[in-house]
Amino acid sequence: MGCAIIGCGKSLPALAVANDDLTQLVDTSDEWITTRTGIKPRRIAVGETNVDMAEAAARQAMGLVEGGYCEAPIDPESIDLVVYSTCTPDVLVPSCAALVRRRLGLVNAVAFDVNAACSGFIYAMSVAESMMASSALGVAGAGRRNKVRRALVIGSERLTRITNWKDRTTCVLFGDGAGAAVLGAGKKGNPLALSFSTSPDVAALDVPGLAGTSPFAGTGRPASRLSMDGRRVFRFAVAAICDAVEGLAAKAGIAVADIDHLVLHQANERILAAAVKRLGIDDARVARTLRDTGNISSACIPLALDRLARAGELEDGDLVALVGFGAGLDIGACLLRWK
Ligand code: UT7
Repeated sequence: MGCAIIGCGKSLPALAVANDDLTQLVDTSDEWITTRTGIKPRRIAVGETNVDMAEAAARQAMGLVEGGYCEAPIDPESIDLVVYSTCTPDVLVPSCAALVRRRLGLVNAVAFDVNAACSGFIYAMSVAESMMASSALGVAGAGRRNKVRRALVIGSERLTRITNWKDRTTCVLFGDGAGAAVLGAGKKGNPLALSFSTSPDVAALDVPGLAGTSPFAGTGRPASRLSMDGRRVFRFAVAAICDAVEGLAAKAGIAVADIDHLVLHQANERILAAAVKRLGIDDARVARTLRDTGNISSACIPLALDRLARAGELEDGDLVALVGFGAGLDIGACLLRWK
């Protein structure tokens, strides 16, 4: 048995913040942000929580409300698993996945969160896919509740809660939002290939500051705010994307040129352009959401998938490569057939 994506959805918060608005906060300009990153507005969650956005995206992916991609509404009781990727949870306990389960009435689903930063959605999907595969093999599934036949996979982030609004090198890049996908039974051998790798460089992108919260641990840094060595991450990202895509193609026995859609983590338009050039892939095959949303960490890939699916651009049998990269530094990639 294999698996397939049978539903996609997304949710963006109501507040759109333009590049010009950011000039009130830091010394920057629309011109710099546009040419160096490709980002125009980003959405910022003010009234919405991380779980609010995830719930809305999941409802679309399950066809319970309009606005997503789903061939037929999915019965909440048929969802056996929720894997929720986030590095900006509203609360640590219970998991955001458990909160979404309660809100959606997913009474048969086991639920947990994963955090692999911007590559988190790929890891969440891979965990879901492995649990479905072991269930199909009979390794898992001693009781009804342990069988995993359908999984809801979510990437949802409120990055602007950890953004350093005094740092112009990072605050112009990030936004908030959520994407979701439902995995169901698919053709044998789907996904075709997975790729997990790392280039351990924790300091390149981190959110320091948790040290010091105990009275016994010294003062530490007062607040947790994101910091990044942009150039270092940029160089890593281009090489990592190319390596992952070439690896996926080799594993699946296809040429890179056979890939119909490349869905990359949306961090910088120049990263996308450099990777596409190096891979020799037709630029029209590369999904783009960055311009309208900024970088939303693990929500980027499901958001881009949702956009492609709703636009009718994904045809049965199409080869889709997904590549996430980010803090860690970690890379996760997956090659699958659309249906
Ligand atoms: O999702 C996680 C993965 N994250 C990423 O993949 C991010 C990867 N990195 C990048 O996207 C880019 O490196 C950035 C967008 C973060 C920065 O672009 P860059 O072309 O690498 O710029 P830079 O850091 O080399 O800075 C160039 C200049 C500097 O000024 P000086 O030293 O040349 O005078 C910066 O201080 O641009 C300045 N600068 C800005 N100026 C106006 C940096 N940020 C800004 C800004 N507005 N917002």
